[in-house]
Amino acid sequence: MTTTSTEANTTEAGERNEGESGTPEVNRFRPSGLSKDDAASLVDHLSGRLVGLIDLGLTLKHIHWNLVGPGFMSVHKFLDQQVEGVRVMVDATAERIATLGGIPNGLPGHLTRERDWDDYALGRAVVSAHLGALDKVYDGVIGDHRSAVAEVGQVDPVSEDLLIAQLGELELYQWFVRAHIENTSGQLMSGDAMTELDAAAAAATGDPLA
Ligand SMILES: [Fe+2]
Repeated sequence: MTTTSTEANTTEAGERNEGESGTPEVNRFRPSGLSKDDAASLVDHLSGRLVGLIDLGLTLKHIHWNLVGPGFMSVHKFLDQQVEGVRVMVDATAERIATLGGIPNGLPGHLTRERDWDDYALGRAVVSAHLGALDKVYDGVIGDHRSAVAEVGQVDPVSEDLLIAQLGELELYQWFVRAHIENTSGQLMSGDAMTELDAAAAAATGDPLA
């Protein structure tokens, strides 16, 4: 994604301001001591994380609704705890974007335009299959968050602090998921699977080589 800093897309009140890429622009106030270019860069990174977190929250709810089989109720409930935590992260990220002078965009069309990954791969499936696939989802979200921490930290410790706290929570959530598909040797039953479908199949059979 790229961000431009022109005023060309400033519109009348009530319209959304977006650059050509759909990235919200910085066109208002910003915190004292931050240059416009730095604020625009921060908004760019945080907007990407906003998309990732909104997608994660929706995916967690999808899984919450589509679990079947042994372990249903406990996982059904614990996924809702993760949904609530992720929704807090979404709100905090959007409000940081606004604080930086950007325009947070959490609309469905923006989400599907901006993300560079496909929808979650499973519909109704057994608990272990979903958790194998969800582990892969967390791999992606956490990797992107960690990259954003490195970039944002060069410019703004406040935004960096926000992302670091979220990263710690996300890694904890992934451990909760992994603990369900881990054997007593500490191996994940999803093995080295790279895709959600492969991880789901391996975790469901309990065979890392499946
Ligand atoms: Fe529910």
